[in-house]
Amino acid sequence: MNAAQEIELENIRGWLSTRCGIHYPDKKRELLIQRLSRVQRAFNIDSIADLGQRIRSGSDGEIELAVMHAASTNHTYFFRELDTLDQFRNMILPTLQGKPEIRIWSAACSTGDEAYTIAILIAEALGDAGLARTSILGTDISQPVVQRAEAGVFGERQIERVPDYIRRKYFSPIGVGQFQIVKKIRDRCTFRRLNLKVQPYPFRNKFQVVFCRNVLYYFDIPDQKATLEAIHNVTEDGGWLVTSVTERVRDLGTPWKTISSGLSRKGNV
Ligand SMILES: C[S@@+](CC[C@H](N)C(=O)[O-])C[C@H]1O[C@@H](n2cnc3c(N)ncnc32)[C@H](O)[C@@H]1O
Repeated sequence: MNAAQEIELENIRGWLSTRCGIHYPDKKRELLIQRLSRVQRAFNIDSIADLGQRIRSGSDGEIELAVMHAASTNHTYFFRELDTLDQFRNMILPTLQGKPEIRIWSAACSTGDEAYTIAILIAEALGDAGLARTSILGTDISQPVVQRAEAGVFGERQIERVPDYIRRKYFSPIGVGQFQIVKKIRDRCTFRRLNLKVQPYPFRNKFQVVFCRNVLYYFDIPDQKATLEAIHNVTEDGGWLVTSVTERVRDLGTPWKTISSGLSRKGNV
């Protein structure tokens, strides 16, 4: 790589960090180059230097979205981190049971597996009446994963941890190794593109529960703190934040009160 390309690579790395909170440390430099080369091929761009200039021009939204998508890691699957889901079922759901409306946000939802898992857990615990009162919003920075979430079609790998009786109840086979989540669950979930770094978040109604799992560790500490504070502002008093057990909310000094690993609460309840 020549000097001009090195400079543009650094610019893209900086842009990803400032604009999206996505960090590529030196040890992941080759991975970033590989991911950017996919965008170059898709848009017929000869070099990283040209790609960097297109981003810097600030007028090429399609390229910006493609770079954000290529740079993000979208790995996800149904029924991820069962201990956390058990806490949702046993501690959070009882507090939602009597609410006329249940509003949940899956922030950084990738292909929607988490949002649909939550809807299935609600259907199982609170029945069709509880499900009908539920709205789940899934958001992600990457437009292609948001579109896949909307379609609600999943391959064998993504649903391999789904218990058999849940599979039979909530998934319809629609092709070889392809399954679509049933309409009554799809109808309760909406998906939008949203960059967690752009704050405050644009919601009229507050959520009772926000899932923000397996994304904070891509952000540096000030971005993690700012994100958790912005989520706090769009959560009801007494509402819940669910993170991955490996993401340590307690150490960040935010207004969230840690209940257990992976689980925090707003207010003095
Ligand atoms: C590893 S997936 C986690 C999916 C799901 N929450 C889970 O735990 O299975 C991380 C997701 O975060 C998204 N992401 C990364 N940076 C983001 C940002 N600044 N705003 C919103 N989403 C972001 C990525 O596009 C990716 O889909």
